[in-house]
Amino acid sequence: MKKHSIVATLTVLIVGISLLVGIQTVTAAGMMGNGNSMMNDNNSNSSMMTEHTVDLKEANVAEQQLNLPPILKPDKQTKTDVYYTVTAKQGQMNFKDGQATKTYGYNGSYLGPVIQINNGQTVHIKEVNDLPTKTTFHWHGAIISGKADGGPHDPLAAGKSRTIKFKVQQPAAMLWFHPHPSGQTGKQVYKGLAGLIYVNDANSKKLSIPKKYGVDDFPVVVQDRTFDKNNQFNYKKDYNADGTLGENLLINGTLNPYINVSTNFVRLRLLNGSNARNYNFKLSNNQVMYKIAGYGSFLDRPVKIKKLQLSPGERAQVIVDTTKLPDNSELKLLTGGMNVLTMKLGARSSNISEIPNKLNNMQKLKQPTKDVNKEKLVLSGMSKMVQINGKQFNPDRIDLHAKVGQQQIWTIQNKKEMMMNMIHPFHLHGVQFRILSINGKKPPLAQQGYLDTITLNPGDSYKISFKFEKKGLYMYHCHNLEHEENGMMGQILVQ
Ligand code: C2O
Ligand code: CU
Ligand code: CU
Repeated sequence: MKKHSIVATLTVLIVGISLLVGIQTVTAAGMMGNGNSMMNDNNSNSSMMTEHTVDLKEANVAEQQLNLPPILKPDKQTKTDVYYTVTAKQGQMNFKDGQATKTYGYNGSYLGPVIQINNGQTVHIKEVNDLPTKTTFHWHGAIISGKADGGPHDPLAAGKSRTIKFKVQQPAAMLWFHPHPSGQTGKQVYKGLAGLIYVNDANSKKLSIPKKYGVDDFPVVVQDRTFDKNNQFNYKKDYNADGTLGENLLINGTLNPYINVSTNFVRLRLLNGSNARNYNFKLSNNQVMYKIAGYGSFLDRPVKIKKLQLSPGERAQVIVDTTKLPDNSELKLLTGGMNVLTMKLGARSSNISEIPNKLNNMQKLKQPTKDVNKEKLVLSGMSKMVQINGKQFNPDRIDLHAKVGQQQIWTIQNKKEMMMNMIHPFHLHGVQFRILSINGKKPPLAQQGYLDTITLNPGDSYKISFKFEKKGLYMYHCHNLEHEENGMMGQILVQ
């Protein structure tokens, strides 16, 4: 107890001092609006934030066509079942001139393929670990048993493989997969392990929205990486206990990317696949975008937005309407002042006549009253001192218990403190939840679908509602991967 508070006091002091010293840079970065820091634009003046920032740099390479991850071909398919193989392995990439970069990837050198699955289908995935070290295959956002979930309690040793099986029981969404081995999650994701899962259902197949992969429907995996002088990712050197940040943006593994747009409407499926960087996306010239989906479902109707904040682990799908823009012009997706993706508008055909104004039909969310299990999780601290409910992760301790089918209402709070205020993206495994309230208010339309991750600014309190549908041991944690590894994680046993 005593020792602990001395360390705490010291940390506060050190953080305080570095804040005082570093305040000039923080302010400058904030004014440039490069959206790279732990700060949120809305909150940056209301409280002291961390000193830790790495500014994004314009990539010093010519524009390159956006890489498109391949769509994974099933090994086998029947009416009801589909079989896939996903292999984690080492590779190398020529991101830029000079030396190739040593990387990790799934079935390839960097990132992974897009896995397409349908609601109602039984999916078999053979997970193969060809890495020189342990890993896990975690299916982020999937409603899946704890056994198949690939949490840190289930490592797969180097050279080993296993097959998981699950029935898809969730609506159309974009999920993703990434490694989760204890002590190595941040490093393995940084080296390139991440891939997308497209869940389709009867509704998504019917909807008149852009859906031609690589033509009017693009995956956009946003990551930040620093290249050392030999073009390598040096996780150890760039490691920061408050989140490893890189200075260049890689989009689907492409530096300075563009896409050729040949249709009026373009669908972008965005994933913040970074370890720790928060993005504030917007379009050039303040153009509007239409958010059609969050993480785990379509929204009921498209929501017009000008800004889109995504923290690590979060996804969003937007449609961009280019109808009124001239041929041979450019539209840019930006984060702060930085270019994320250039859309080169050519002569365009009308792929759809308009964005449908009904996309989904989610049931009205009622405040449940009976048989409710309530939990409260308080996120606090920074750096090596991050905690949930005052505790750091202990694999031998079960923090919470729940029953399958039992109604859950959890309050998640990001405690506001004098000095140690950070954004924490909170993520819960194995379920999709809905937001009952944010700081006592009804969530905005753009956040009314199913979610598996939420961004908590300092002082925020979210109430979420869900049920566990499968059994097993599940993690909940901050998706700032370095916070997660520093112990900002707990586990719940569902029986
Ligand atoms: Cu995206 Cu615990 O994971
Ligand atoms: Cu997850
Ligand atoms: Cu955090």
